Amino acid sequence: MPDLAAQSDVILLEWPQYLAWLSGKIRKAQNAWGESIRLGPPLSPGHHMAVIGPTGCAKTTHCVGILTEVRKYVLALDPKGEDETLQQSGFIRVTELPKDGLASLRGKDQKTWREIHKRIENGQDAKVIVGGGARTDDEDIALRQLMRDAITYSRHTGGWTLYVDEFELLSSQRMMKLGDMIERMLITARRDKTSVITTFQAPAWVSKHATRQARRAVLYPQSGAMVKSIAEEMGHDWRELGEALDSLPEFYTITIGRGKQAGPMIITKAPKL
Ligand SMILES: Nc1ncnc2c1ncn2[C@@H]1O[C@H](COP(=O)(O)OP(=O)(O)O)[C@@H](O)[C@H]1O
Ligand SMILES: [Mg+2]
Repeated sequence: MPDLAAQSDVILLEWPQYLAWLSGKIRKAQNAWGESIRLGPPLSPGHHMAVIGPTGCAKTTHCVGILTEVRKYVLALDPKGEDETLQQSGFIRVTELPKDGLASLRGKDQKTWREIHKRIENGQDAKVIVGGGARTDDEDIALRQLMRDAITYSRHTGGWTLYVDEFELLSSQRMMKLGDMIERMLITARRDKTSVITTFQAPAWVSKHATRQARRAVLYPQSGAMVKSIAEEMGHDWRELGEALDSLPEFYTITIGRGKQAGPMIITKAPKL
């Protein structure tokens, strides 16, 4: 592993340890010098997280790992349309949200939703991908409406972790123009214990709230300008962060927290699904 792990404020966690930390099962870990260091707070309900890096660096892989192990109720928005990595999660895919009344007799996924609700009633988990194809104009229109419905559903029902894969697609004025809805979720979600986890490639392309409201950011190597803006937003020294990111091997991430109780930087790597 990089020399960087030899710094006292940087801790390398194996993936299972990382998940245990986010779940609140471990509070301390050893640095390279064998000192026991107090880690930052776990990913509590209502805490948001932003995962930022270029395409193909393993953002979705990282998030699926967290959603699988650290969260019980997950609504994963797939605005890209059938993302392969998201598909490998094994979560249940739906192309519509639960409906009341007569429509419920017809919709093809309503039976799936009844099963999902039954699971929840029985105390089991529920991990749902919302999204369909995006190959034609008609499919694009349907997918946008579906994303809208899912955000509304998540806001009304509460308690879900809302995962937004490729937030740019959802928020862009040229694409789905749903950035405002997510922004509102980010700001109000804490009350009803909804966590929003977003992935995106560049902070400049999405609502600044995606970073501003996040308790924690997961970062891959990226341009200096981006590191600077993220570091500033999260209250970190950008030079130190940039150096640390530059020394990461493929698929590795640095997770940073916000503010005084941020804890050390955490290096880890999510295994391939
Ligand atoms: N630890 C890993 N080892 C090997 N391949 C990986 C690892 N993590 C992810 N990958 C692969 O890298 C590719 C991109 O991962 P993905 O999570 O879809 O990236 P992103 O969401 O950032 O575009 C996928 O084919 C995935 O299987
Ligand atoms: Mg992805």
